[in-house]
Amino acid sequence: MTDAAVTRASALKSARRLEGVNLVNGKLVGPSGKELFELYDPATRELIVRVANSGTADVDEAVAAAKRAQREWAQVPARARGKLLVEAASVLGRHSEELAGLLALESGKALRTECRVEAANVVDALQFFGGLAGEIKGETVPFAPGVLSYTQREPVGVVAAILPWNVPLMLMAIKIAPALVAGNCVVVKSAEETPLTVLRAAELLSAELPPGVLNVLSGDGPRCGAPLVAHPDVAKVTFTGSVETGRTIYRTAADKLIPVTLELGGKSPMIVLPDADFDKAVAGAVVAMRFTRQGQSCTAASRILVHSSLHDRFVESLVEKISEMTIGDPLDEATDIGTIISEVQFDKVRGYIEAGRETAGAVAHEGAELPGDERLAEGFFVRPVVFTGIDNAHPVAREEIFGPVTCVMPFDTLDEALEIANDTPFGLAASVWTRDLKTALVAVNSLEAGYVQVNQALVAGVNISYGGYKQSGLGKELTLDSMLDHFTHSKSISLNFQ
Ligand code: NAI
Ligand code: MG
Repeated sequence: MTDAAVTRASALKSARRLEGVNLVNGKLVGPSGKELFELYDPATRELIVRVANSGTADVDEAVAAAKRAQREWAQVPARARGKLLVEAASVLGRHSEELAGLLALESGKALRTECRVEAANVVDALQFFGGLAGEIKGETVPFAPGVLSYTQREPVGVVAAILPWNVPLMLMAIKIAPALVAGNCVVVKSAEETPLTVLRAAELLSAELPPGVLNVLSGDGPRCGAPLVAHPDVAKVTFTGSVETGRTIYRTAADKLIPVTLELGGKSPMIVLPDADFDKAVAGAVVAMRFTRQGQSCTAASRILVHSSLHDRFVESLVEKISEMTIGDPLDEATDIGTIISEVQFDKVRGYIEAGRETAGAVAHEGAELPGDERLAEGFFVRPVVFTGIDNAHPVAREEIFGPVTCVMPFDTLDEALEIANDTPFGLAASVWTRDLKTALVAVNSLEAGYVQVNQALVAGVNISYGGYKQSGLGKELTLDSMLDHFTHSKSISLNFQ
């Protein structure tokens, strides 16, 4: 049984419970400096709640709690840790409606199309990693006769997980679950824009785990994130966010010589060949571009390369499909598309749209209507835009916009499409749409991206390795290998009693 259906009032009530606190050593506690910042509803710009703006002293306290807990947590047999996580996941499942409501409130993502899906996926991800606990094992090595040589996997220690705001709950889950199952303890730093849902989820999970195993700090990047990465007892950082912040974190980690996992931006191409299933490709573009998430996804198909013979018809059908979507209050069941996360991002996205519009030859095709509701007049709503006449060198095609903006570009040959697709500083994901296996294989093998799908809309899920080439990041997530590679050390042992 899950909890009662969410309303704006119930979401606000859940939010207020979390005013000004962090989760440290199993308890909700205020930041030591008592500093707070204000969190606004992106749909109405009304104040939701004041949130802890944690600083160095809070980082020290959370890392110390994690470090204290880690020694004992590592002694719990791996499968017992996994079982605890699976049980904790089912507790989360019973609060999924509350979590989805909080997420819709603070992120502006639509409850029905996004937040409920994310809350359900989180339970799945925690269960998946919990079930992999028995796979944390080593190998025997034929080193010398009479000598027993083997390897064993050991936890790295205290892990810092720094989260963005676009899919905060899911990204927390896929970072903490492998870390915890492998015997590490974690300090999460939530994004300034979405501190509440991850804090509530962690509170629920933490109640099923020993105190200090999972800690969450709210706070901004420089005040809280930077000292967390720099803390001498943090042995590993896992981060999802911008390229710029990824570089900053990597520099600090380099000085400490600790490993990092960085999941950064993308400018993912979608290639539609002349023999593609046309309707499936158009529907795929809507999903792959993550229009229901206002395009705020690192995987978003923000460059759609369509064979010249289909180009005009494709644009027309895509805009028609988008026009059927409802932009509105994120907490309204009828809403397909919610708001951009913040004023900063709102201005950034609109800046790119303006730059596109001002370009000679470019056309901005808009779909879906802005909400008419007075209460939402100041919300960060943006109509989805499909650009045509944009060259691959244009900033709209080159830079990560992180908004509901894509461009459709024509091509004549597969070679040409692949050249355009790979002509980007990013390499996160790519998709190819064709009925021909040979064409698909040529494309798949040529694309410089960590995550490639054929006739599929860049659907992500556990057990499918996720992570980028080039400036899209370092390291993979979502798999057994990623858990072993990123959250354990391999110790090599030889026993010689000869
Ligand atoms: P950001 O990378 O600055 O923020 C992500 C997280 O890093 C937040 O928790 C933030 O507090 C933290 N952070 C910031 N500075 C830090 C520092 N010096 N040390 C440690 N942690 C720090 O991203 P932001 O500013 O929210 O968004 C900017 C752009 O980044 C977006 O427009 C988008 O292009 C990209 N982005 C990509 C994401 C992805 O999924 N790969 C997610 C979010 C943003
Ligand atoms: Mg930033």
